[in-house]
Amino acid sequence: MSEDIYREMILDHYRNPRNKGKIEEPDIRINDSNPLCGDEISIDLKVEDEIIKDIKFDGRGCAISQASASMLTEMVSNKPLTTIKEITKDDILENIGLTNLGPARIKCALLSLKVLKLGMVKYYVDKDPSSADEMKDQSKVF
Ligand code: FES
Repeated sequence: MSEDIYREMILDHYRNPRNKGKIEEPDIRINDSNPLCGDEISIDLKVEDEIIKDIKFDGRGCAISQASASMLTEMVSNKPLTTIKEITKDDILENIGLTNLGPARIKCALLSLKVLKLGMVKYYVDKDPSSADEMKDQSKVF
């Protein structure tokens, strides 16, 4: 796909975000911010039998951060929780399709993935401490 198509896709997700909002009584609620700009994203998840039954994000930020969060919720919706462990920085950058982002913009694109991985730390901390440690390490690379 050409970069123009990716730009269109980003604007579409920014203007019409998928899965935006809050879940009442979520199983996981987590938020974090981009240290460079202070913009925050929160993510709520409803989990049943280790499957992500519902996911919503909220918060503010630039088009890249909001579009990336919207796309990420679509990527993991109705998938096993373990899918989150497998998603890498490169998967996100490939998904948004902008290969020439500078380091600051990369942080915008990865904010929602960082929040999601931190959510997994919270979820696994009592259930499976070694998975929690693994997710903690993964969230630090952003
Ligand atoms: Fe704040 Fe992109 S400028 S998240």
